[in-house]
Amino acid sequence: MADRESAQQAYDRFAPVYDEFNSANNYEVWLGEVLLPELEKRGLQRGWALDVGCGTGRAFDPLLDRGWKVIGCDGSAGMLAQAGEKFGERVRLIHTDARELEPISTAPGQPDGENFQLVLLLNEVVNYLTEEGDLERAFAGVLRNLSPEGLVVFDTNTLLWFRESFASGKSEEMSDRGWDWHGLNESVETGATYEARLSGQGVESHVHRQRHWTLEQVVEALEDSGLQPLAALGQREENWQLILENAVDEERDSKVINIATRAG
Ligand SMILES: C[S@@+](CC[C@H](N)C(=O)[O-])C[C@H]1O[C@@H](n2cnc3c(N)ncnc32)[C@H](O)[C@@H]1O
Repeated sequence: MADRESAQQAYDRFAPVYDEFNSANNYEVWLGEVLLPELEKRGLQRGWALDVGCGTGRAFDPLLDRGWKVIGCDGSAGMLAQAGEKFGERVRLIHTDARELEPISTAPGQPDGENFQLVLLLNEVVNYLTEEGDLERAFAGVLRNLSPEGLVVFDTNTLLWFRESFASGKSEEMSDRGWDWHGLNESVETGATYEARLSGQGVESHVHRQRHWTLEQVVEALEDSGLQPLAALGQREENWQLILENAVDEERDSKVINIATRAG
């Protein structure tokens, strides 16, 4: 294992270049045109959204543009500072670890907790939770904040994705800024924890550590936390199109899109 900096420390270093590094990911398409319609099919009602691990706020615009009110939280002060610069007063930001999420009030006088029609953990947030019990701790915080009919959506990376991004020697030179995302793992195995080092111009070298969670582990953690899984959809890209399928294949799909609600 490389030096054990936390996800928060890694993201404090990554923050200055995060948006540029991820500029190819189109959140209007992913969230606005693909995920929100999937959630609406399952009864999503517009209202308050809690974006857990919101980072620089890439999910905010598709939500705000559709009339959602948004609160974002993240463990990295550096990522939140970027979000604050872009969104100012339009989105309230909270500095907190996803595993220690307290009940959040949406307005003065509004009771704490169970206020959000939608809770999102998008773009690998769940994979950055790497220790036993982390999923349950994060899902318990989701439950404290989810409204009675609310939905939670999060993605988890597949084995195919870990093979492509974290296997050793996988080095991707990105852009003319000389960014290098370098996988540090000798083999790719179900349920393992993976590391990659990011270095280059404008970004202090740091290590990203992610865990592969199996669908069975995710379902068990949801159920143990009082959430009911509603869907696990395989996501892949074909001819520049995002495709969601009602079945998961760890070797065909790059992500699993998980949707859940309160149990009972
Ligand atoms: C790949 S970024 C995704 C950011 C944003 N959701 C997006 O879609 O662009 C992962 C985010 O998860 C946050 N994160 C990782 N572990 C966390 C934790 N335990 N508590 C809170 N935030 C965490 C990081 O700080 C980072 O902002």
